Amino acid sequence: MSKKIYLYGNWKMNNTYRETEKFFEEFPGVYEPFKNDAGLEVGIFAPFTSLWPLSQGAKKCGIVFGAQNVYYEPKGAFTGEISIPMLKEYDVTHIILGHSERRHIFFEPDEMIAKKTKAVLEAGMTPVFCYGETLEERESGNTFTVMERQLKAVLDILTPEEAAKVIYAYEPAIGTGKTATPDQAEEVCKWSRELIGNPKVVILYGGSVKGSNAKELLSMPDIDGALVGGASLKPASFLEIYGAYKG
Ligand code: PGA
Repeated sequence: MSKKIYLYGNWKMNNTYRETEKFFEEFPGVYEPFKNDAGLEVGIFAPFTSLWPLSQGAKKCGIVFGAQNVYYEPKGAFTGEISIPMLKEYDVTHIILGHSERRHIFFEPDEMIAKKTKAVLEAGMTPVFCYGETLEERESGNTFTVMERQLKAVLDILTPEEAAKVIYAYEPAIGTGKTATPDQAEEVCKWSRELIGNPKVVILYGGSVKGSNAKELLSMPDIDGALVGGASLKPASFLEIYGAYKG
């Protein structure tokens, strides 16, 4: 594969501080040389409370690391929130924003996700901007309308230079057991690239990526990598995806 591939693990609300330390006792295992692979970027996104051991482990094995959310104001009366300066002190460089769980369980609106994305870029960090439809929206034929709304909300407030620095992640919330086929994922990623208006942007696909389907997904022309949930929680299953990319 000649394009650069991104393998990002989204741990969601899993892996405590101690479990993160344990993860890096086994990771990257026999794949130590992957840090010298210029065609690959591996990353892990952990809960805030696991960021310290994550930063130590990630620096040791040469992967990027980040958080799964942030608020756009630098400080103040925002109980329960975490700011960009707080994450910077942990050397965080990448932040997932607008994940389908933030949109659907915590009701984050498009405008808020857009403001967060802009703030992260202004701080010199990389947002991993997630977007995608629910199963209901797909079945009612609204996939592209929903995604256009989500993407336009952010693109409207970014300069073209800023939009080029975002890592986009198409993550359909289509539910357990109903994963997008490689062709469906490719169709959306290709469409997104055209909507964003820059053929060079990085677009990942997320949704039940695992060792058995990674190679097919990653060989699609408009899919630059994977945002992996469940299969990234344990070193063995995450490394299986790396093995599939290599093999
Ligand atoms: P999954 O999660 O790989 O467990 O489907 C992906 C995600 O939602 O980030």
